Amino acid sequence: MVQASAPGKCILFGEHAVVYGQPAVAVAIDQRMSVKLKLNSDWRIDGMAFHPDRHPHVEALKQRLWDSGPPLSIKITGDIPPASGLGSSAALSVAASAALRCARGRQLRDDDWAEGWTAARPNNVYNGPWDVEKGDSVEYGESSVDEDECAILTHAVEAYAQGGRASPMDSSTCAHGGCIVLSDKVEENLNWLYSRQLNDVSWEVHSVSLENIEDVWLVIGSTGIHAPTSEQVAKVAKLLEKQPEKMREIETIGIVARRGIAALMRGEMEAVGRAMSENHLLLRSLGVSCPELESLISAAAPTSLGVKLTGAGGGGCMIALTRDPKTTSEAIELAGGRTLISRLASAGMSVDDDKESPLWKPHE
Ligand code: PMV
Repeated sequence: MVQASAPGKCILFGEHAVVYGQPAVAVAIDQRMSVKLKLNSDWRIDGMAFHPDRHPHVEALKQRLWDSGPPLSIKITGDIPPASGLGSSAALSVAASAALRCARGRQLRDDDWAEGWTAARPNNVYNGPWDVEKGDSVEYGESSVDEDECAILTHAVEAYAQGGRASPMDSSTCAHGGCIVLSDKVEENLNWLYSRQLNDVSWEVHSVSLENIEDVWLVIGSTGIHAPTSEQVAKVAKLLEKQPEKMREIETIGIVARRGIAALMRGEMEAVGRAMSENHLLLRSLGVSCPELESLISAAAPTSLGVKLTGAGGGGCMIALTRDPKTTSEAIELAGGRTLISRLASAGMSVDDDKESPLWKPHE
């Protein structure tokens, strides 16, 4: 058995404005998805026959990492609610890519990768047949697994499952953990990780280390309403077409996001909270809030440093930054929301069991 897990994410600043080039900030949350693999006589997911169209993410990863490999029984567990903007599909894909890579190992040539995907090298660095005579070797277990590779694969399979469109926000945050900033340019003062490109759009991905986060929590409140991201993005596009002056809101979200990042880095949580609440008012004036989100936000505000919707809006979730998560959570639940409590900037992907790896030796 091989097992790996990855966290979900929520957006602290910059949703929607990021579509127009402004920076967006996401943090990994404590809630995770976990994927367990075992050799089996036929392909199974959670005990049922595996249908590629029901599990497009797993199918796309299988094609890339397990093409002619033996059948597996895959068990998926986790506490990230699906379709709520919390990155459940990216977390699942990161965990599955880590588990598959761990289960098959990685070919090495002169201590360098002879196969795989990474931003530091061309996208697929497979360099021709493996040749043990020439000293090629294989790395097995956790050491063969790489965060950057899992982030790249997840970005690719998210695009595949979503008809070609996906930003690298979820894939990068769920792989690396912590706090991730996406922008259309390299942001000074942040730790630049890599560039990503998809369909003529490019993003610069950065990580940020946060200060003073020991005694603050995020309470995530779900409205239970499913509002597809693509519809909310189209709604903002239509608004901007009709009222071009609303571009001011988009630009102001960018300014607020940068202020929020600076406050996060200085550990000034009161200022982070103020920037979150300000970001929410701007999102509201772009028309992506809804009465249910507003009611959870009003309920959380009195006990929070800052409150906002998170993700695409129109339903989905809100977040509250608070020093009193129990009271804030109770207030949200009383207003009809379901809550999760998380620290800011949780750990990224991990291999949780590699004792039986490799499950397959494609190199022999
Ligand atoms: O659906 P979520 O929660 O991952 O957030 C979408 C964020 C948007 O900025 C609205 C869309 C995007 O592609 O960045």
